[in-house]
Amino acid sequence: MLKRRKQRHMIELLHLAMTLGPGKQSPLDLNNNFTGIEIGVEQGSLARMMVGMFKNCTWHGVDPWTEYGAVEYKSYDMEYAQSRWNQMWSELHRELRKEIEERRLVLHRTTSDDGVIIFDNASVDLVVVDGLHTALQTERDIRNYWPKLRKGGRMCGHDIDNEVTPGVRRAVEACRRPFEVRTGYLWVMDAKEADDAQL
Ligand SMILES: C[S@@+](CC[C@H](N)C(=O)[O-])C[C@H]1O[C@@H](n2cnc3c(N)ncnc32)[C@H](O)[C@@H]1O
Repeated sequence: MLKRRKQRHMIELLHLAMTLGPGKQSPLDLNNNFTGIEIGVEQGSLARMMVGMFKNCTWHGVDPWTEYGAVEYKSYDMEYAQSRWNQMWSELHRELRKEIEERRLVLHRTTSDDGVIIFDNASVDLVVVDGLHTALQTERDIRNYWPKLRKGGRMCGHDIDNEVTPGVRRAVEACRRPFEVRTGYLWVMDAKEADDAQL
Protein backbone atom coordinates (compact mmCIF):
# COMPACT_ATOMS: atom_id res chain seq x y z
CA MET A 1 0.00 0.00 0.00
CA LEU A 2 2.75 2.41 1.08
CA LYS A 3 4.90 1.29 -1.86
CA ARG A 4 2.06 1.93 -4.29
CA ARG A 5 1.46 5.37 -2.79
CA LYS A 6 5.17 6.21 -3.08
CA GLN A 7 5.20 5.04 -6.71
CA ARG A 8 2.20 7.23 -7.46
CA HIS A 9 3.90 10.15 -5.72
CA MET A 10 6.96 9.74 -7.95
CA ILE A 11 4.81 9.57 -11.09
CA GLU A 12 2.97 12.74 -10.07
CA LEU A 13 6.25 14.52 -9.42
CA LEU A 14 7.51 13.48 -12.82
CA HIS A 15 4.35 14.94 -14.36
CA LEU A 16 4.95 18.06 -12.32
CA ALA A 17 8.53 18.32 -13.61
CA MET A 18 7.28 17.86 -17.18
CA THR A 19 4.55 20.43 -16.63
CA LEU A 20 7.11 22.87 -15.36
CA GLY A 21 9.66 22.16 -18.00
CA PRO A 22 9.77 23.17 -21.63
CA GLY A 23 7.07 22.22 -24.06
CA LYS A 24 3.82 23.48 -25.52
CA GLN A 25 2.20 23.76 -22.13
CA SER A 26 5.03 25.52 -20.40
CA PRO A 27 6.29 29.09 -20.22
CA LEU A 28 9.81 27.77 -19.70
CA ASP A 29 12.43 27.14 -22.31
CA LEU A 30 15.12 24.52 -21.86
CA ASN A 31 17.68 26.72 -23.58
CA ASN A 32 17.12 29.57 -21.21
CA ASN A 33 18.21 29.72 -17.66
CA PHE A 34 15.29 29.54 -15.33
CA THR A 35 14.95 29.92 -11.61
CA GLY A 36 12.49 28.04 -9.46
CA ILE A 37 11.52 27.93 -5.84
CA GLU A 38 10.17 24.76 -4.25
CA ILE A 39 8.39 25.24 -0.94
CA GLY A 40 8.63 21.90 0.87
CA VAL A 41 11.53 19.73 -0.27
CA GLU A 42 11.61 16.83 2.18
CA GLN A 43 13.89 14.14 0.67
CA GLY A 44 14.28 16.13 -2.52
CA SER A 45 12.43 13.92 -5.01
CA LEU A 46 11.32 16.82 -7.21
CA ALA A 47 14.51 18.82 -6.64
CA ARG A 48 16.59 15.87 -7.86
CA MET A 49 14.43 15.56 -10.98
CA MET A 50 14.61 19.27 -11.74
CA VAL A 51 18.38 19.65 -11.43
CA GLY A 52 18.80 16.35 -13.32
CA MET A 53 16.47 17.24 -16.19
CA PHE A 54 17.17 20.95 -16.58
CA LYS A 55 20.88 21.62 -16.55
CA ASN A 56 20.47 25.38 -16.78
CA CYS A 57 18.04 25.84 -13.97
CA THR A 58 18.70 27.22 -10.52
CA TRP A 59 16.47 25.47 -8.04
CA HIS A 60 15.84 26.93 -4.59
CA GLY A 61 14.42 24.62 -1.94
CA VAL A 62 12.77 26.10 1.15
CA ASP A 63 12.02 23.73 4.00
CA PRO A 64 12.68 23.84 7.76
CA TRP A 65 13.52 20.13 7.82
CA THR A 66 12.08 19.98 11.27
CA GLU A 67 9.17 18.36 13.08
CA TYR A 68 5.81 19.86 12.36
CA GLY A 69 2.43 18.77 13.58
CA ALA A 70 -0.35 20.00 11.35
CA VAL A 71 -3.51 18.17 12.34
CA GLU A 72 -4.72 18.02 8.73
CA TYR A 73 -1.48 16.38 7.73
CA LYS A 74 -1.22 13.67 10.37
CA SER A 75 -2.23 10.80 8.15
CA TYR A 76 0.26 11.59 5.45
CA ASP A 77 3.27 9.55 6.64
CA MET A 78 5.33 12.66 7.26
CA GLU A 79 5.76 12.46 11.00
CA TYR A 80 9.50 12.06 11.28
CA ALA A 81 11.68 12.42 14.36
CA GLN A 82 14.09 15.35 14.29
CA SER A 83 16.99 12.92 13.78
CA ARG A 84 15.37 11.77 10.51
CA TRP A 85 14.98 15.38 9.30
CA ASN A 86 18.65 16.01 10.08
CA GLN A 87 19.58 12.85 8.21
CA MET A 88 17.59 14.01 5.14
CA TRP A 89 19.39 17.37 5.22
CA SER A 90 22.79 15.60 5.36
CA GLU A 91 21.86 13.13 2.62
CA LEU A 92 20.77 15.94 0.30
CA HIS A 93 24.10 17.68 0.82
CA ARG A 94 26.08 14.49 0.31
CA GLU A 95 24.17 13.18 -2.72
CA LEU A 96 23.75 16.55 -4.46
CA ARG A 97 27.11 18.05 -3.49
CA LYS A 98 28.06 18.90 -7.07
CA GLU A 99 24.77 20.66 -7.83
CA ILE A 100 24.99 22.58 -4.55
CA GLU A 101 28.60 23.62 -5.20
CA GLU A 102 27.63 24.80 -8.66
CA ARG A 103 24.75 26.76 -7.08
CA ARG A 104 22.26 24.96 -9.35
CA LEU A 105 20.59 23.81 -6.16
CA VAL A 106 20.30 26.17 -3.21
CA LEU A 107 18.77 24.81 -0.03
CA HIS A 108 17.31 27.20 2.53
CA ARG A 109 16.60 25.62 5.90
CA THR A 110 13.77 27.84 6.99
CA THR A 111 10.00 28.06 6.85
CA SER A 112 8.35 29.53 3.77
CA ASP A 113 7.14 32.49 5.85
CA ASP A 114 10.66 33.36 7.00
CA GLY A 115 12.24 32.49 3.65
CA VAL A 116 10.11 34.85 1.60
CA ILE A 117 12.52 37.77 2.13
CA ILE A 118 15.37 35.83 0.48
CA PHE A 119 13.88 36.34 -2.97
CA ASP A 120 13.44 39.56 -4.91
CA ASN A 121 10.08 40.36 -6.42
CA ALA A 122 9.64 39.48 -10.11
CA SER A 123 12.81 37.37 -10.04
CA VAL A 124 11.71 33.74 -10.48
CA ASP A 125 10.10 31.76 -13.28
CA LEU A 126 8.21 29.29 -11.21
CA VAL A 127 7.17 28.49 -7.68
CA VAL A 128 6.11 25.04 -6.53
CA VAL A 129 3.94 25.13 -3.41
CA ASP A 130 4.38 21.78 -1.66
CA GLY A 131 5.02 22.73 1.96
CA LEU A 132 2.57 22.61 4.83
CA HIS A 133 -0.69 21.58 3.16
CA THR A 134 -3.16 23.30 5.48
CA ALA A 135 -5.58 25.80 3.96
CA LEU A 136 -4.09 28.65 5.97
CA GLN A 137 -0.44 28.00 5.13
CA THR A 138 -1.08 27.07 1.51
CA GLU A 139 -2.98 30.30 0.91
CA ARG A 140 -0.25 32.26 2.70
CA ASP A 141 2.42 30.59 0.56
CA ILE A 142 0.54 31.39 -2.65
CA ARG A 143 -0.01 35.03 -1.69
CA ASN A 144 3.49 35.59 -0.27
CA TYR A 145 5.31 34.05 -3.23
CA TRP A 146 3.11 35.29 -6.09
CA PRO A 147 4.99 38.63 -6.28
CA LYS A 148 8.24 36.69 -6.69
CA LEU A 149 7.13 35.50 -10.15
CA ARG A 150 8.30 37.19 -13.29
CA LYS A 151 5.70 38.12 -15.88
CA GLY A 152 4.94 34.88 -17.68
CA GLY A 153 5.98 32.82 -14.69
CA ARG A 154 4.10 29.90 -13.29
CA MET A 155 2.98 28.81 -9.85
CA CYS A 156 1.84 25.30 -9.18
CA GLY A 157 1.38 22.91 -6.33
CA HIS A 158 0.67 19.39 -5.31
CA ASP A 159 -2.13 17.45 -3.60
CA ILE A 160 -5.06 19.64 -4.66
CA ASP A 161 -7.62 16.84 -4.59
CA ASN A 162 -5.88 14.52 -2.20
CA GLU A 163 -8.52 13.48 0.35
CA VAL A 164 -6.09 13.92 3.26
CA THR A 165 -5.28 17.53 2.31
CA PRO A 166 -8.63 19.25 1.64
CA GLY A 167 -7.15 22.63 2.58
CA VAL A 168 -5.16 22.83 -0.64
CA ARG A 169 -8.21 23.31 -2.90
CA ARG A 170 -9.74 25.77 -0.42
CA ALA A 171 -6.53 27.81 -0.48
CA VAL A 172 -6.14 27.78 -4.26
CA GLU A 173 -9.78 28.77 -4.81
CA ALA A 174 -9.53 31.52 -2.19
CA CYS A 175 -6.91 33.23 -4.34
CA ARG A 176 -9.52 33.82 -7.05
CA ARG A 177 -7.31 33.34 -10.09
CA PRO A 178 -7.87 30.93 -12.96
CA PHE A 179 -6.06 27.65 -12.44
CA GLU A 180 -5.91 24.24 -14.07
CA VAL A 181 -5.78 20.85 -12.40
CA ARG A 182 -3.55 18.29 -14.09
CA THR A 183 -3.15 14.58 -13.44
CA GLY A 184 -5.78 14.92 -10.72
CA TYR A 185 -3.39 16.32 -8.10
CA LEU A 186 -1.45 19.22 -9.57
CA TRP A 187 -2.74 22.77 -9.77
CA VAL A 188 -1.19 25.31 -12.12
CA MET A 189 -1.68 29.10 -12.12
CA ASP A 190 0.07 31.34 -14.65
CA ALA A 191 1.14 34.95 -14.16
CA LYS A 192 0.11 36.31 -17.54
CA GLU A 193 -0.12 40.03 -16.99
CA ALA A 194 2.51 42.58 -16.08
CA ASP A 195 0.28 43.95 -13.34
CA ASP A 196 -0.16 40.59 -11.66
CA ALA A 197 2.00 41.44 -8.67
CA GLN A 198 -0.87 41.18 -6.19
CA LEU A 199 -3.27 38.36 -5.50
C1 LIG B 1 4.97 16.83 0.78
S1 LIG B 1 6.51 17.17 1.48
C2 LIG B 1 7.37 17.84 0.11
C3 LIG B 1 7.67 16.81 -0.93
C4 LIG B 1 8.69 17.27 -1.95
N1 LIG B 1 8.25 18.41 -2.72
C5 LIG B 1 9.10 16.14 -2.88
O1 LIG B 1 9.58 16.42 -3.96
O2 LIG B 1 8.96 14.98 -2.50
C6 LIG B 1 6.16 18.55 2.50
C7 LIG B 1 7.39 19.27 3.05
O3 LIG B 1 6.97 20.56 3.49
C8 LIG B 1 7.79 20.95 4.54
N2 LIG B 1 7.18 22.03 5.30
C9 LIG B 1 6.32 21.96 6.34
N3 LIG B 1 6.03 23.16 6.79
C10 LIG B 1 6.72 24.05 6.01
C11 LIG B 1 6.83 25.46 5.98
N4 LIG B 1 6.15 26.23 6.87
N5 LIG B 1 7.63 26.02 5.06
C12 LIG B 1 8.30 25.25 4.17
N6 LIG B 1 8.24 23.91 4.14
C13 LIG B 1 7.44 23.31 5.05
C14 LIG B 1 7.97 19.66 5.34
O4 LIG B 1 9.13 19.78 6.16
C15 LIG B 1 8.06 18.60 4.25
O5 LIG B 1 9.40 18.33 3.96
